[in-house]
Amino acid sequence: MSYTNTESEWGTIAKTLHWLIGVMIVLQLIMGWLFTLRVFPGPVQSQLVLNFHIPVGVTVLGLGLIRLLWRFANVRPPLPSNMTWWEHLLANGSHTYLYMAMIAMPLTGWIATSGFGGPVTWFGGIGLPALVATEAKETGRPLTNLFSQMHYWVAVGLTLVFVAHAAGALRHHFGLKDATLALMLPKGWVPR
Ligand code: HEM
Ligand code: HEM
Repeated sequence: MSYTNTESEWGTIAKTLHWLIGVMIVLQLIMGWLFTLRVFPGPVQSQLVLNFHIPVGVTVLGLGLIRLLWRFANVRPPLPSNMTWWEHLLANGSHTYLYMAMIAMPLTGWIATSGFGGPVTWFGGIGLPALVATEAKETGRPLTNLFSQMHYWVAVGLTLVFVAHAAGALRHHFGLKDATLALMLPKGWVPR
């Protein structure tokens, strides 16, 4: 198996990045919506945001940037030939949204947290710089609110697109019985 993509196969690096980032994004979404529902007591939520949500989100940003570069530096196996023009449009549109969200979710979260004056740290407490100056409470924090709203609405879109993306992959595998999902999994996991 090759590290790089070929005309007919995803390479090991593309597959590893897909599933690594995929798992982290799903965890972030589940955790984020639990925050919104106020499932955890206040201090527990603050610790989870600081020690888990932010470091994992920053990791997604780093890996997402590498993944984008890798995407453009490589050929890409074509979409299955049994797809209609509108299925192509939906697949390409949803992939573009997923790539955009990989970068926009962490960046909006980081800008909002900086604007609020909160610390942004990576694992091990490694401090990261604020992306914007802290806004005083008296100003009504317009920039912070704008980026919090963006964090929220991009997450709503991401949740919907992710569900459609996963359902589409399962439809290709179980309904249309083509190799779309098998090609994204380690070779030999499922017959092609
Ligand atoms: C893959 C990246 C990320 C995903 C999918 C994600 C997702 C979410 C979701 C679904 C919510 C709940 C809805 C909302 O209040 O907006 C949320 C809340 C939040 N996120 Fe993120 N996020 C990511 C990265 C980040 C990063 C990198 C930061 C900061 C550096 C951050 C900071 C926050 C904060 C402060 C909240 C509000 C928590 C609270 O209500 O106490 N997020 N996130
Ligand atoms: C149950 C979870 C998931 C399944 C079953 C799944 C399955 C797949 C499959 C089969 C492909 C290949 C499609 C093709 O050949 O055109 C793919 C591509 C892709 N997936 Fe997922 N995926 C999942 C989760 C995610 C998540 C959470 C993200 C969020 C970042 C994501 C982002 C992408 C992107 C951006 C592509 C396009 C790759 C490219 O064209 O460069 N996937 N996925």
